[in-house]
Amino acid sequence: MLMNANPLLGCKMPAMSLHVSSLVLLPLLVLSQLLVLPPPTTLAAGHQPHLSKPILARLDKDPSTSLYTISIGAPLVVDLAGPLVWSTTCLPAHRTIPCRSSVCTVANRGGPDACARTRSGDQLLPAGAGSSCVCTARPYNPVTGQCGVSDVTAVPLSANATDGRNPLFPVSFSAFGACAPAGLLASLPAGAAGVAGLSRQPLSLPSQVGSALKVAKEFALCLPSGGGSGAAIFGGGPFQLLAAPPVELAAGLRADPVPLVRNPMNGAYYLPVTGVAVNLARVPLPRGALALDTRRGAGGVALSTVAPYATLRPDVYRPLRAAFDAATSGIPRAAPVAPFEMCYQASALSVTRLGFAVANIDLMLAGGRNWTLPGGSSLVQVNDQTVCFAFLEMGLSGTAAAPGSPAVILGGFQLEDHLLLFDLDKGTLGFSGPLAGIRTGCSNFNFTMGSSF
Ligand SMILES: *[C@@H]1O[C@H](CO)[C@@H](O)[C@H](O)[C@H]1NC(C)=O
Ligand SMILES: *[C@@H]1O[C@H](CO)[C@@H](O)[C@H](O)[C@H]1NC(C)=O
Ligand SMILES: *[C@@H]1O[C@H](CO)[C@@H](O)[C@H](O)[C@H]1NC(C)=O
Repeated sequence: MLMNANPLLGCKMPAMSLHVSSLVLLPLLVLSQLLVLPPPTTLAAGHQPHLSKPILARLDKDPSTSLYTISIGAPLVVDLAGPLVWSTTCLPAHRTIPCRSSVCTVANRGGPDACARTRSGDQLLPAGAGSSCVCTARPYNPVTGQCGVSDVTAVPLSANATDGRNPLFPVSFSAFGACAPAGLLASLPAGAAGVAGLSRQPLSLPSQVGSALKVAKEFALCLPSGGGSGAAIFGGGPFQLLAAPPVELAAGLRADPVPLVRNPMNGAYYLPVTGVAVNLARVPLPRGALALDTRRGAGGVALSTVAPYATLRPDVYRPLRAAFDAATSGIPRAAPVAPFEMCYQASALSVTRLGFAVANIDLMLAGGRNWTLPGGSSLVQVNDQTVCFAFLEMGLSGTAAAPGSPAVILGGFQLEDHLLLFDLDKGTLGFSGPLAGIRTGCSNFNFTMGSSF
């Protein structure tokens, strides 16, 4: 569900002979060079009047898969940890990219472990194929873990420029992406045409929007909880939500971000969590349980838009569940509803602006701040009578505790109706906390066309 390694693949590389130690050293050098390389001019944005405005895209939650799609030309599934953009909408006669190009080199870095494992026997092009060799990449389905091998091309994308309050005017541009076979769409929402990776890697959507449109490598993500579109803004600027009165949130988040933890093995975003508390009491966890092992790329607390709920390694899940169980011992229980293990009678819980009134869970961050999960982020209503603890144990209910997986994955349910501001250059995250606390939500962006004058 979250990639755990960073294999170097592709036609220039004798990939099978590379060892993990060399994978760790190479990316930093090449990535930093690539981040400043604009795409070839023929592939850059068309003749737009204001190339330096941020762009806005709608985000929608698919009720049957709990995945989020972004409308950026075609609807693409949002994979916060994904390295690439891929789409099944390429024309048969799409333009290809030479494999001896810097774009091709990075296109083949940063894929998940699963892709590396399917590598043998595929058609990596022979070394020495020269300028006629065509760049391929490995688009990855973050739900099924399936990989494909397909051409890299310039995928046409479109969005609206924005002042952070309204869409202003349409903008077309292109991004390097993989042309995936339709079969790779298995388990994704009906109507989705591919995946948009939003990681800090050079061919992710925010990195490419930054270079193609000459805007900041920063994006604001506001995932809707359903029943209305959320919004993403790429390229900086304000982010305003309707409330009484409307509230601009980006400046405050930008002024007070937390540094993210870098995993050299992938481009995912990790929070610097030092401990977990329930009802202000620290949960006893094994020593180092939350640490990211940068040598193996394992552990840590990662953010994911493809895991529907927080998913925890058993050594973290069990103490947390026990602490929450104890802190809610006075609340009548209900029979568990899969995939959840601990459920309550909805009628026994009172509701506040921040959801069901229960003990808070604090993720204690380095630097002294907390990411606080009130009832709205820790309990999910599964039917009229039942509310469940919205955390899953890795390894159960189809969630693999693969070697190299994070210790904690904060999933979509925990991220919804929070504004998250990722700065790729600084490696920081600004976060709002639950927007319900300020009486707004992610579906309160004003998508009415505004005026740029
Ligand atoms: C721009 O915004 C308008 C109004 O919300 C919408 O109808 C249109 O589809 C958007 N265009 C693009 C390219 O996203
Ligand atoms: C963070 O959470 C811990 C544990 O609940 C609590 O003791 C501490 O006061 C909180 N810090 C802030 C700044 O809220
Ligand atoms: C949404 O934006 C439009 C254009 O700026 C504005 O006229 C309208 O009043 C806004 N809607 C609300 C509810 O503020």
